[in-house]
Amino acid sequence: MQFKAVKFTNKANPLTVGTQSIPVTETNGEYKLPSADSILVKVHAAALNPIDLIIKNSLSPWIFRGEKGFGFDYSGVVVAIGADAAKRNGLKVNDRVSGLFQDIFGPGTVAEYVLVDASKPTGANCRKLPDNLTFQQGAAWPLVFGTAQSMFDSIAKGNSFNKILVIGAGTSVGRYVVQLGKKVYNSSEIVVSCSSKTESLIKELGATTVIDYTKQKSILNPVLESVKESGPFDAIFDCCGNSDLLGDMLTVLKGRAEGGTYTTIAGDAKLDFSKGPGNLPSQIFSHFRLLRSNFGFLPYFYKMVLVNPADSWPDKCVKALAEHDFKVFIDSEYPMDQVSEAVKRLQSNKAAGKVIINIE
Ligand SMILES: NC(=O)c1ccc[n+]([C@@H]2O[C@H](COP(=O)([O-])OP(=O)(O)OC[C@H]3O[C@@H](n4cnc5c(N)ncnc54)[C@H](OP(=O)(O)O)[C@@H]3O)[C@@H](O)[C@H]2O)c1
Repeated sequence: MQFKAVKFTNKANPLTVGTQSIPVTETNGEYKLPSADSILVKVHAAALNPIDLIIKNSLSPWIFRGEKGFGFDYSGVVVAIGADAAKRNGLKVNDRVSGLFQDIFGPGTVAEYVLVDASKPTGANCRKLPDNLTFQQGAAWPLVFGTAQSMFDSIAKGNSFNKILVIGAGTSVGRYVVQLGKKVYNSSEIVVSCSSKTESLIKELGATTVIDYTKQKSILNPVLESVKESGPFDAIFDCCGNSDLLGDMLTVLKGRAEGGTYTTIAGDAKLDFSKGPGNLPSQIFSHFRLLRSNFGFLPYFYKMVLVNPADSWPDKCVKALAEHDFKVFIDSEYPMDQVSEAVKRLQSNKAAGKVIINIE
């Protein structure tokens, strides 16, 4: 079976719309799938993430010459499903679904179809889309909401979430962290950093105190003020990449004995999506800190979260979306042949929510 898909080879070459083939045959609407674990989805929308750009911008033209697909998030309709996949994922033909097909160097989701294997982590997270979500919203949540849920899952057991700090609450991930704190983990104090343009929205989501990161070089002083008023934080969620507080953690965060945890998805500095390995130097100290935490040599817990398609977040997120009225944010929508414009928008670092590609 052949269809249109966005492709790239390496950082030197642009994204192009080309043809992709999968080992599926179709005769008069009957699909023959490669295995009983296969799910074939007609894609309606895909979402872009910084990781898509970081991967592309990491690939040297000297080494990487073969064609690769683009994008991990998708939503669409099941057009064919094997018996084992139907049992595993509780799905059937015509179900509206979404998922995270996080297959690095794989076929990508900015494509007319995705073929996933339910027995593998990349296909196991394909879930029925709650009725209250559009296809665009369905593509907008898996990677970022999954990451936010994984950040909560990384917090040391026995810790409470009464007072939390969300650094970069305006990011796509941060918006879910704030909502999870408010709606699922019953945080009573949610201190956040975001810009004044996002402030009122983040307050609506549940933030109790806002620190405008654009008005100061470091967020340390306002964070220390909050600590003076109501004590140290139970947990800190860095959704952006920041090191302002690391020298004062013993004051800012509860200690290891009480489960005080600093969890980050980006390390000590904001990642530059236009660079690949160029981001590594800013990550070295975070990895060293992670090692010290893992060996018990740090007076608090330090976690670096990388969303794992196989973790327990899909069911938790779908439940939250269906039952807790979570807000899903879309910044902008583009057709497949304008994927380069969509990439520019994501790279601008000003996207307020997800950049979506609509697949006709
Ligand atoms: N480890 C993982 O598994 C994982 C998963 C997803 C994402 N990430 C990483 O997490 C980061 C965020 O990703 P995303 O998709 O959520 O980002 P995004 O939605 O593209 O974030 C854009 C927003 O970041 C905010 N921002 C920019 N500079 C900031 C700063 N210095 N301090 C605080 N906020 C700032 C701005 O919000 P304002 O409106 O407040 O200015 C902007 O609208 C990226 O580095 C990404 O690579 C990691």
